[in-house]
Amino acid sequence: MDLNTIESDDIGTTAGQPAVLPAAARKVFIKTYGCQMNVYDSQRMADALAADGYSATDAIGEADLVLLNTCHIREKAAEKVYSELGRIRDMKAERALAGREMLVGVAGCVAQAEGAEIIRRSPAVDLVIGPQTYHRLPDVLARVRGGEKIVETDYAIEDKFEHLPQPKRAEVIKRGVTAFLTVQEGCDKFCTFCVVPYTRGSEVSRPVAQIVAEAERLAEAGVREVTLLGQNVNAWHGRGEAKGGKTEEWGLGRLLFRLAEIPGLARLRYTTSHPRDMDDELIAAHRDLPALMPYLHLPVQSGSDRILKAMNRRHTARDYLALLDRIRAARPDIALSGDFIVGFPGETEADFEATMELVRQVNYASAFSFKYSPRPGTPGAEMSDHVPETVKDERLQRLQALLVKQQQDFGLSLVGSTIDTLIEKPGRQAGQKVGRSPWLQPVIVDEKAGEIGDIIQVRITKTGYNSLFAELA
Ligand code: 5AD
Ligand code: SF4
Repeated sequence: MDLNTIESDDIGTTAGQPAVLPAAARKVFIKTYGCQMNVYDSQRMADALAADGYSATDAIGEADLVLLNTCHIREKAAEKVYSELGRIRDMKAERALAGREMLVGVAGCVAQAEGAEIIRRSPAVDLVIGPQTYHRLPDVLARVRGGEKIVETDYAIEDKFEHLPQPKRAEVIKRGVTAFLTVQEGCDKFCTFCVVPYTRGSEVSRPVAQIVAEAERLAEAGVREVTLLGQNVNAWHGRGEAKGGKTEEWGLGRLLFRLAEIPGLARLRYTTSHPRDMDDELIAAHRDLPALMPYLHLPVQSGSDRILKAMNRRHTARDYLALLDRIRAARPDIALSGDFIVGFPGETEADFEATMELVRQVNYASAFSFKYSPRPGTPGAEMSDHVPETVKDERLQRLQALLVKQQQDFGLSLVGSTIDTLIEKPGRQAGQKVGRSPWLQPVIVDEKAGEIGDIIQVRITKTGYNSLFAELA
């Protein structure tokens, strides 16, 4: 019998006594907050738990284990987790009344940052597990089932990726024709606003062979597009093959050249990058690799040199613009995306205007912008001259109005042109399928235009708020 098809409801329970379920019947519900790396981590946790007999469920009510994979990058994210834990506490109590157990775990960056404080604030939580220790999840759960409450947040010495099982082929197929692949974790840049160096630790790159093997498995299962992930992905480096049977140090550019050789992988992307780590080989990859999509997320955070210095970004606005000139010369159709923080401590109206001016000069295809939120333990939180919330609100509105206009203009500029689209999934409306443009926009096409996984040529007919509508070219 397929172990994953046993329904947990088939197992008899004695009211009042939590049932001990056979491993094969357990169900896990994972809720993911934050960035793409958390999406990837949730999948890898699901893979680790599948080896332990858990199958994934989308219905929290039927879960024997609820895991929140959290994000700590901005304030509201952590608060959302605490309020979600309040709701889960009630569900756990209801389930206990029905004689069923519901274990509750908190993973991700809030787990790393808050540790035991989570169990103190939310006693319904049974385990707290940081991002570097997911491979220990099955062992941790065994101990939790034995009645312990566990906080596991050390930076493991062993390589978690070596211990995490790869997804089964059927699971990869279910997840679709695009996939994430983490190649690098952590960050040594210490931007003064950012918690990542504290929650994810210092920069660690996965070895070339591990990454290539994972990409090959994905491609064999039908994945057409892989996005390489890292908090500072273009700082990735590793020993790879060199001429004469020797090895040499590779950077991300060289890795992309290698991954582009994998049959079936038609599209490559990477995110998120730091301007200081864009080296010549990576720019050459944009020039020479048709598979490397012409879209680059390259956060600048601010257009004011004074604020960039206070943020410890270690580049000026002019450095950033000069870098973009080189990238655009290599790949003229590249579309740019960025991240911005408004209201960093000490930001004046003139500093903010410098950000607006930089945005006007760059002309972004898409961008994310945030109000500065002081993160405990970061240098920014200790700075004086915090900007009032009302000023942050007002600046954010002005910046977002400009960025939205640029995004819409970019979409409009494509109307009438013929572009490649990777068909990803059925559309929300009957008769439609959704594809993805080279610049990451959803493209709505007629369902007969192609099969999922096909890359087809379409003509853009009009734009939606965030998407493009197209007909077969
Ligand atoms: N406040 C606001 N935005 C932040 N980001 C990171 N830390 C903070 C903070 N403390 C933003 C940055 C980063 C993105 C992932 O989140 O713009 O690039
Ligand atoms: Fe955070 Fe990115 Fe700066 Fe690293 S480079 S500290 S992840 S903002």
